[in-house]
Amino acid sequence: MFWDGRADTLQQQASGPLYDPAEMASTPEIALHRLENARYIQRLKALGGPATDASRDLLLSEALFALARYQIEDPSFHAYDSKFDAWLEGKARFTPEESAGYRLFNDPTKGNCAACHLDRPLPGNLPPLFTDRQYEALGAPRNQALMGPYDTGHFDLGLCEVMPGGVETSSAYCGVFATPTLRNVAERKVFFHNGVFHDLHQVLDFYVLRDIHPERFYSRDTHGHLQVPDDIPPQYRSNLDRTDAPMDRKSNDLPALTPQERSQIIQFLKTLTDGWSPTRP
Ligand code: HEC
Repeated sequence: MFWDGRADTLQQQASGPLYDPAEMASTPEIALHRLENARYIQRLKALGGPATDASRDLLLSEALFALARYQIEDPSFHAYDSKFDAWLEGKARFTPEESAGYRLFNDPTKGNCAACHLDRPLPGNLPPLFTDRQYEALGAPRNQALMGPYDTGHFDLGLCEVMPGGVETSSAYCGVFATPTLRNVAERKVFFHNGVFHDLHQVLDFYVLRDIHPERFYSRDTHGHLQVPDDIPPQYRSNLDRTDAPMDRKSNDLPALTPQERSQIIQFLKTLTDGWSPTRP
């Protein structure tokens, strides 16, 4: 879980936003105080068993476990009722633009998106998750909006920072982040691990033009040298993915997708939004 994979379970994940000073800014003490004064405290203790009377740590961990189970058991967390899901079941028809986008998404020489954002039904005919659950360094540009008064000169190195042994032994995983699902992606307002993009067109342009027009995305150092990519320190830049299409281009190559083809992929991505019905397309 998380862009850098630092939590192994939903239970672990839940404490992240809870205690993060930039999110809910709670502490174990505050959370316990609220739990112990909540109307449902006896029900929580009944679920956790008698040991939760003796251990406040256990009580807190049972609460986080309950949160994890809620996400697994409540159907609203996995509706799988997008137009794409209906289409997989033969209950919806793509428009010509959506169809074209779907083909480009899958074509290994064009978008090649499905190489990482897997879109085939899983064994047992389960709906695809649009992620391979792997990690890649795509070289997202440094988010200048996080600079200025917030600039600490810090580089978020991703996976290598949370590996056992840390950066020293895991430098091959620096700059590497999780492949996110693309379900409901058209509903999001910020994209990539550092939130640098705010529009799917920017994301598609980045995939297609990163290596052809790097100056459109990256900043220069004080000597005027373009930093490619500028959000990964120089010693880790060789981790950048330059082999998977469409990020396998050289500066004189043609873009893998024309602007029209990029728009068609976006039309397809919009079919991944939950809550589709034939009357409310
Ligand atoms: C080599 C694997 C790979 C390929 C190929 C790939 N992606 Fe991604 N995608 C990723 C990874 C990894 C990230 C997260 C990168 C980051 O945050 O630094 C990502 C992020 C995204 C995001 C941002 C989602 C969010 O919630 O912030 C979108 C949208 C996206 N990809 C769409 C596409 C499309 C469309 C294509 C095809 C043109 C594509 N991807 C091809 C691995 C891949």
